[in-house]
Amino acid sequence: MEIFHHISSVRKTLGEARMAGKTVGFVPTMGNLHEAHLALVKQAQGMCDLVVVSIFVNRLQFGLNEDWDKYPRTLEADSQKLREMGCNYLFCPEEGEVYPNGMDEQTRVIVPSMANVLCGASRPGHFEGVTTVVTKLFNIVQPDIAVFGVKDYQQLAIIRRMVEDLCIPVNVVAGDIVREPDGLAMSSRNGFITPQERPRANQLNQSLCWVKQQVLSGERDFLKLEAAAKTQIIQAGFKPDYLIVCNSRTLESAASDDCEITVLGAMYTQGARLIDNVSLKLGSAQE
Ligand code: PAF
Repeated sequence: MEIFHHISSVRKTLGEARMAGKTVGFVPTMGNLHEAHLALVKQAQGMCDLVVVSIFVNRLQFGLNEDWDKYPRTLEADSQKLREMGCNYLFCPEEGEVYPNGMDEQTRVIVPSMANVLCGASRPGHFEGVTTVVTKLFNIVQPDIAVFGVKDYQQLAIIRRMVEDLCIPVNVVAGDIVREPDGLAMSSRNGFITPQERPRANQLNQSLCWVKQQVLSGERDFLKLEAAAKTQIIQAGFKPDYLIVCNSRTLESAASDDCEITVLGAMYTQGARLIDNVSLKLGSAQE
């Protein structure tokens, strides 16, 4: 696996590969790689000739109260995992390479209709930081496809919308959620769940699945379902941030005749803020 720290060198190598007719898959990450990231890399490998992974802990998407400096940096272990699975290229730039004019002066990309709801409501500026860095990474790597995990459903929906709105020639591919045996979605943040809380930490997933079943059984009072699911989370000893039945594409609250629905939730444990979601189709293509 070849490792690049500079935009010019990764561009040169990928430019030559494209000239030779190779297709390029891209998996952007912030490192601290676990099974779910590696599944995205595997998915990209199945779709393209060459795969590039980026590792960049993007300060622009961290809020003032969020610990950018404490985010785990495990570059050695990450590179080893990627090397073992046959990843072709790793791009891990320094901050000055990505933001040469500083972050305050950085041109921003915003998806206004979706950036300030759900996770964006409690993390102001987060999605602006994500869409800005992903645009830059897309321009650097110029991949044919880019794979993003469905666990970060709002991020995926926002990136899809950004690509559509800005005519970016990248096929955005969704990677399934990878779960622990009890249903907890795999995440770098799971390391912050206390051992006491861990046996109950799958409550978010259980409540989302309960809402899904209720909707599939015909219930259309979404507000009632959302309130009941939040009560379940509180009774399990956690603090819900949000739990909302949404239109899968727009992330607006679902209408009773919507056919593609995603139930998204976030809850606080003592040491972590966990997110998860489940999707369902109504009408002829029931799941
Ligand atoms: O999902 C992530 O790890 C990050 O938000 C991303 C897409 C790599 C942008 O920094």
